[in-house]
Parts: sequence; structure tokens; C-alpha cells
Amino acid sequence: MHHFYREGFAAELLEFTADQSPVIEVGIDQQGMGGIHLAPEYPGGVYSPPVANSPCSGRDPPFLCGQYLDASHPITAGPYRADECADLACELGICAMPHQCGQPVPASPSQVRFEVQRLMSTVASDATGMLGSQAQPRIHAAYNDGIVRQFVIMTIVWGVVGMLVGVIIAAQLAWPALNFDVPWLTYSRLRPLHTNAVIFAFGGSALFANSYHIVQRTCHVRLFSDRLAAFTFWGWQLVIVLAAITLPLGITQGKEYAELEWPIDLLIAVVWVAYAVVFFGTIALRKVRHIYVANWFFAAYIVTIAVLHIVNNIAIPVSLTKSYIVYSGVVDAMVQWWYGHNAVGFFLTAAFLGMMYYFVPKQAGRPIYSYRLSIVHFWALISIYMWAGPHHLHYTTLPDWAQSLGVVFSLILLAPSWGGMINGIMTLSGAWHKLRTDPILKFLIVSLSFYGMSTFEGPMMSIKTVNALSHYTDWTIGHVHSGALGWVAFMTIGSMYALLPKLYGRERMWSLRLIDIHFWIATIGVVLYVAAMWIAGVMQGLMWRAVNDDGTLTYTFVEALAATHPFYVVRLLGGSLFLVGMLIMVYNTVRTIQGSTIPADTPIPQAA
Ligand code: HEM
Repeated sequence: MHHFYREGFAAELLEFTADQSPVIEVGIDQQGMGGIHLAPEYPGGVYSPPVANSPCSGRDPPFLCGQYLDASHPITAGPYRADECADLACELGICAMPHQCGQPVPASPSQVRFEVQRLMSTVASDATGMLGSQAQPRIHAAYNDGIVRQFVIMTIVWGVVGMLVGVIIAAQLAWPALNFDVPWLTYSRLRPLHTNAVIFAFGGSALFANSYHIVQRTCHVRLFSDRLAAFTFWGWQLVIVLAAITLPLGITQGKEYAELEWPIDLLIAVVWVAYAVVFFGTIALRKVRHIYVANWFFAAYIVTIAVLHIVNNIAIPVSLTKSYIVYSGVVDAMVQWWYGHNAVGFFLTAAFLGMMYYFVPKQAGRPIYSYRLSIVHFWALISIYMWAGPHHLHYTTLPDWAQSLGVVFSLILLAPSWGGMINGIMTLSGAWHKLRTDPILKFLIVSLSFYGMSTFEGPMMSIKTVNALSHYTDWTIGHVHSGALGWVAFMTIGSMYALLPKLYGRERMWSLRLIDIHFWIATIGVVLYVAAMWIAGVMQGLMWRAVNDDGTLTYTFVEALAATHPFYVVRLLGGSLFLVGMLIMVYNTVRTIQGSTIPADTPIPQAA
């Protein structure tokens, strides 16, 4: 079997694959220097020794000048002997170590790229001709890190955008005049923009990045298809851009967290199916027999989101920008909250637990506290979540038995939720001291604490009598944000800080101190936000239900609103702090990336 191994530190990799032929790849680094990478991968991961007569032999790192060519190999034994290839690299000025090879650094990267392409297409077609009869399907021996890098960067970008819109609408709630009477700046249009941006753009990009990273590392195999993975990236970004255009224009289905109109819904469905093919295809190709628990969580989330999205969005289009959902009345409400609750359960919970199961043990340097517990709480969590949706519809026309069913399942849900939280936090036992020095671990562990808190609060709020107080108040918003900021965003931020240096060939982020500052600012931000909303919510609930002896309401609605105003200002402050934290992250990221050479894709370990 011949397949060719990607080596070097290529920023841009040009692949030459003829159908069913071996892969020959060429790398060009950011400085425009390049190397010919024809190194065959040998069983056991041993590479051919440097060719003695190569002009660059003995140099460090040797592969840069194409030294890994084997003179006995059919290609290099042909018109392109090893020494000739290395010579060619030098001749073309694409040798990455020109100072050692005595060649000038080429003037223009595009000229190099052109030369490399020209050379390599000749080599590739010759190679295909030579190896045609014994050609094997294309096999990659390195992980696809490029796609992870793309999603990581967009996670940070969309995080800033989504949270900025959040800060704007928080300010509008405190001072409504801030919509300046411009229709597309009104709260009603910007609110769905905010939720879509933070959930699907920020959270979604983080999930793509992490699931692609984790499935490769835990299966010891490259992604099933680079092209399809690239399609999911561009497709998902297109969905986000379309959302950012249509929502401020007021184009909406009017379903919470499913506002996007039918053409965008169709695009989401196609991208999601492609995502499923990439993910499950990678699982199918895995070199490790066991499927690591993180992948179980990702698998459940991918399948469930596909089902939820399709069923909840079945609609009859009447124009390009308008459609009518097929469900009506209380059935519509139930389908909507079956979707809404499980979007929380699978998009914002199960998938982030998948991330947790990878990053917490890795960052703590310890195995998961109980692998058995991870499996048990996985099955319990995914089977129970499905039935808890009716707690969003208490005291509505939904049949009473369905509401009670929602309460029961929500209460049971506490157990598997805490199973995950305890498993994550206990993974740190024996390594608690690391919290003192590792700010990334702080993000991850505080994230788990918020997860525990919001999954205790949720079941309490689902009890009908408690919900009678909390429903329609800002308590719900407090609950949402202890989950969304405390749990989801903290886990995302922690994972980004863990991934970024790896993806850009750095040992660690540019400044650990800035990560620590980010951590404290974000923590203070969430606490201010959530505490303000809790107090405001309980106060609103109590004011709305207060009655005088004669049965009339004690307070008018406007009185309750006026009493809420200071808390809206505190919420704005908390949200702004969280945004400042994100901007610190942007700065740290830019400094980490600046001047770095994008490393080649990480080789896959051979011993599975
Ligand atoms: C055991 C776990 C949980 C349960 C049982 C639960 C339960 C609830 C309840 C009862 C409500 C209020 C419904 C209403 O009165 O309208 C609610 C709202 C909400 N929860 Fe949770 N929750 C849980 C965990 C979470 C987590 C971890 C997150 C975020 C990551 C989250 C996000 C939300 C959101 C976004 C809403 C607002 C829905 C709306 O727009 O009305 N929940 N949840």
C-alpha cells in the first residue's frame, strides 16, 4: 500500500489526487517557502531514512528539503530520484531552508505556489501512471486540523458579535429609546438575532470545532471527508450570514430559536446531514475499537438536532420569505417546546458534555473519575430529556397530564445532569492544586459548577407551583444565562484556550495572565447578570400576583416595570463585563497567532 504523508509546516496544502491514486502533497509555509512532501508512510510509522546524497541531508529538520524520499521507492526510483527531488526543491527556490542550501528566498509566494503546482502536477501524473495498477484509495495519515482552526476562529468572532447584540438589547430594555425608531434596530428584531448568534453561530461553531477535533483524536483517524467538512464550514457560515440579514429585516417564522425562514431551514438541514456523514463516517473508519464517551454525546446531539429541526420546521411556503407552519394551536406549542427544550438538552447540554469529557480529563491530566458513570448518565440523560418539554407550557391549554409528565421527567432529570457534573468535577480529585495555576481549568470547573446550578434550578422551576411564580418573569432569563453563559460559554472559552495554541504551533496562549483576567471578569459578569435577574424575576412574580383585600391588583404592570429598571442596568453591566472578557480573548488570540507559522496537520499516532 502506498500512501503519502503530509509533512512540513504548510499553511496551504495543495493536494494532488487522481481517482483512486496515492496522495502527493506539497506544502508552502506562510513565508512563501515550501517543501516537496513525497514521503511515503511506512507501516509502524517509521519513515525512510534521509537519503545520503541529498544536498540537504543531515539538516534539521530534514524533511523540509524532501529528504524523506526513498531511492528504492517506485516514484523516486523513476524519473524523480530522491536527490533529484531535493535538488529540484532547491532549484525552484522552494526549499524551506534556503540559507542552508545556498538558494535565494523566492520573491513572491504566488510565484512559488505556481512553480510548486506545476512541478507537482507533473510528478503526480507520473506517479499515478507508475503506481496505477497498485493504487489504493486515498488515505491520510494526519488529522484535519485546518477545519478545526476555521471553526475556532469563527467561534470567537461570532461570540463577540452575538454578545455585542446582547449588550445592545440589554441597554434597550433599560432605555427603550435606544432603538432610535429604526425598525431593524428594534428589540423584537434584535433579540432573535442575539439568540441565533450566540446559540447557533457561537455555540454551533464551537461544537463543530470541538466535535471534529475530538472525534479525530479519539478515533485515531482523519475526518471521513475533507471536502464535506469544508462544506459544513462554509454552509454553516452562510446560514449565519443569512440569519444576520433576514432577522433584522423582520423575516421570521415566529418560532423561538427556530425563527429562520424555510429556505435557510433547508440549507441547515443539508449542512446538518453533511455534518452527520462526516462525523459518523469518521467513527466508522476509526482505528480505536472503543468509541470514547465524548463521541456518544456528539452522536446523540447530531441525530437529535436533525430530527428536531426537521419536524419542528415543517411548513408550507407561500413565498421565498414567508411560510406557514403545518401545526396549529396547542399542537404547535407542544412541537415547538419539544424542539425548544431538546435544543437546550442536546445542542446546549449533551454536546457540551462531550466537550467536557474530553477537555476536563486532558487539562487536569487525570482519567475521568468514573467511566461507568459517564455511560450510565449518558443513556439516562438522553432518554429523559425528550419528555420534559411540557414544563415550558404550564397553565396553558396543553392537557394537564402532559404538563404533569413534564414535571416528573424534569425532576428525574436532576440525577443524570448531576451525574455529569459530579463526574467532571471529581475528575479533578487529587489535582485540585492545578486550579491555582491553570486558568483554563478554572473556566472548565466553574462551567461545571454553573451546569450543576442551572440543572438544579431547572427542575425546581418546572414544579407547577414554582413555575406559577417564575414563568414570564426575568427569573427565566436568569436561569437561561446561568446555563448559557456560566455553563456553555465558559466551557467553550476553556476549550478555545486549550485548542488555540495547539492549532497555531504554540506551546501555550500568549498570556496566561490575560486568561486569568478574562476568567475573573467573566465570572463577575455572569454573577451580576444572573443575580440581577433572579431578584428582578422573583420581585416581578410577587408584584404581579399581589392582591388587595377587595381582590384588585396591588400593583400596576408599570409599577413592576419601574421597580425592575435598576436590575436591568445591573444586567447590562454584567453583560458588558462578559463582552469585555471576550475582547480580551480576541487580543490574546491575535497575539498568539501573530507571527506563528501554521503547523502541518498533526500526524496520527500509529499504535491505536
Ligand atoms: C435539568 C435541566 C433543566 C431543566 C429541568 C430546565 C427547566 C427549565 C424551566 C422549567 C424553564 C422555564 C420555562 C418557563 O417557565 O417558560 C426553563 C427555561 C429555559 N432553560 Fe432550562 N432547564 C434545565 C437546564 C438548562 C440549561 C443547562 C440551559 C442552558 C444551557 C437551559 C436553558 C433554558 C432556556 C434557554 C430557557 C428559556 C426558554 C424560553 O425562551 O422560554 N436550561 N428551563
